[in-house]
Amino acid sequence: MGKNKLEKFADMASYPHVFEYPYSQADNVPFDRKGKWNETFFKNDHPIVLELGCGRGEYTVGLGRMFPDKNFIGVDIKGSRMWTGATEALEAGMTNVAFLRTNIEIIDRFFGEGEVSEIWLTFSDPQMKKVTKRLTSTYFMARYRHFLKPDGIVHLKTDSNFMFTYTRYMIETNMFPVEF
Ligand SMILES: C[S@@+](CC[C@H](N)C(=O)[O-])C[C@H]1O[C@@H](n2cnc3c(N)ncnc32)[C@H](O)[C@@H]1O
Repeated sequence: MGKNKLEKFADMASYPHVFEYPYSQADNVPFDRKGKWNETFFKNDHPIVLELGCGRGEYTVGLGRMFPDKNFIGVDIKGSRMWTGATEALEAGMTNVAFLRTNIEIIDRFFGEGEVSEIWLTFSDPQMKKVTKRLTSTYFMARYRHFLKPDGIVHLKTDSNFMFTYTRYMIETNMFPVEF
């Protein structure tokens, strides 16, 4: 039988590659790994790649397997979902995968200037009714700028026509270069 939510939360709290800082806690606790993820956790100088809204983390783990010379951090607020990928990475002994449980609204508190090379947005909620929650809005793009390298890349994967069209409009408005 599978684990229930409380058992998953207990696992997550014990995992060395999982960092849990939801908004309510991050407000009180300074994040001293900011700008030092490679030095203090990954122990190498490989590029850092984020998956924002990673859900169960399959993409984060899959990319980690495909690209052993990059470090991947899956970010989501839902710990019971993230448990799946976090457990898989741990059991597989992967050293280039970590997970951060927090609200993406405050993502710039966790990464230093130029610390991140790439961001993946994988099937993000289109949030048709709440523009302030869309992960490709100008509000979030401004947050990403704080820690993305000047030549950093944001990858968008979506099956939502709404999200695609909205993001294209945001790209034009902000005059971001498009690679593909
Ligand atoms: C539609 S799911 C996609 C999950 C995964 N990327 C996939 O392709 O299966 C969107 C995920 O983004 C997370 N999410 C959305 N907005 C968020 C926010 N502001 N902060 C943290 N997580 C967020 C949700 O919790 C959810 O797990």
